[in-house]
Amino acid sequence: MRIGVLTGGGDCPGLNPAIRAVVRKAEVSYGDSLIGFRDGWRGVVERLTTPLDVERCRGILPRGGTILGTSRTNPYKIDGGPERAMETLAAEGVDALVAIGGEDTLGVARRLSEAGVQVVGIPKTIDNDLSATDVTIGFNTAVQIAVDAIDRLHTTAESHDRVIVCEVMGRHVGWIATYAGIAAGAAVILVPEEPFDIDSVCEHLRRRHAKGRYASIVVVAEGAKPVDGTIVVASGGKDQFGHERLGGIGNVLAQEIEARTGIESRVTILGHIQRGGTPTAFDRILATRYGTAAVDALHAGQSGVMVALHGTSIDVVPLADAVDSLKTVELSLVDDVAAVFLD
Ligand code: F6P
Repeated sequence: MRIGVLTGGGDCPGLNPAIRAVVRKAEVSYGDSLIGFRDGWRGVVERLTTPLDVERCRGILPRGGTILGTSRTNPYKIDGGPERAMETLAAEGVDALVAIGGEDTLGVARRLSEAGVQVVGIPKTIDNDLSATDVTIGFNTAVQIAVDAIDRLHTTAESHDRVIVCEVMGRHVGWIATYAGIAAGAAVILVPEEPFDIDSVCEHLRRRHAKGRYASIVVVAEGAKPVDGTIVVASGGKDQFGHERLGGIGNVLAQEIEARTGIESRVTILGHIQRGGTPTAFDRILATRYGTAAVDALHAGQSGVMVALHGTSIDVVPLADAVDSLKTVELSLVDDVAAVFLD
């Protein structure tokens, strides 16, 4: 079998271990040949390829990013895009694809599989918002990076008796904010799943700081929104999949908190730090298990499916189940913690 591999969407730690696992499993267990497509679906549409074999993958296990490059190209937004993709696959003699991506990349994989391409998906995104799997590659590392950062913010906030707002990624969902907020002992966790009321946030902070010297960390997901009309947040344009470019709620929040409570406030926006650098052991193992399972699925003749983690087992699920709706944070998770720890 000749297998094409691509990574699409925002990068994350763990992509290289996944590529390595696909390549090793395919070459060593099945005697397959492989080809890499550069920059996600752009490589398939524009026939941008790169050699891919066990030798090429040596040393990439601990490396962040992706040796294949990535982009947010959507073939279905390009004139003749899907047809050009099919031509490339035929011209390169590719029998099947492994697409490593989030909702957008795997949404394209699903459409191509319906058009007859054999494709298996591997779930990745630091946002952890893909349905039908417990965890996506990259999430664990992003949470650990955020926790390390918030631990550091705590000590400086304590020295100055300040509020520090820490903005983390999470466009539509607050998985990073929730997990990092709980693990690092934040005073407030704000997620896109539930619009926040700035008055109650400020009231909560005022109460904490009225008890004497006190520091508060507010963790806010970049996609968190205030209750309508309470504060104004700017927007920054859209990408090819129609997603808004975010970043800025943290600044607005810190200014509002200081203005309304009189407590000195600062902001730290973690941004792409959360997506860079070496993957945690958890992500390396997850990526390795996903990569080998994806190749097994191809050889079992499966298509239009994604490998997924359920508890401790790796299963295969329809791509439709993964991309039809986002996996959001159960608010009870935040509320249960809030009741005991956020005071
Ligand atoms: O990949 C998901 C994500 O990290 C989101 O959390 C974030 O909003 C977005 O990507 C940022 O995208 P870009 O790197 O294209 O600015």
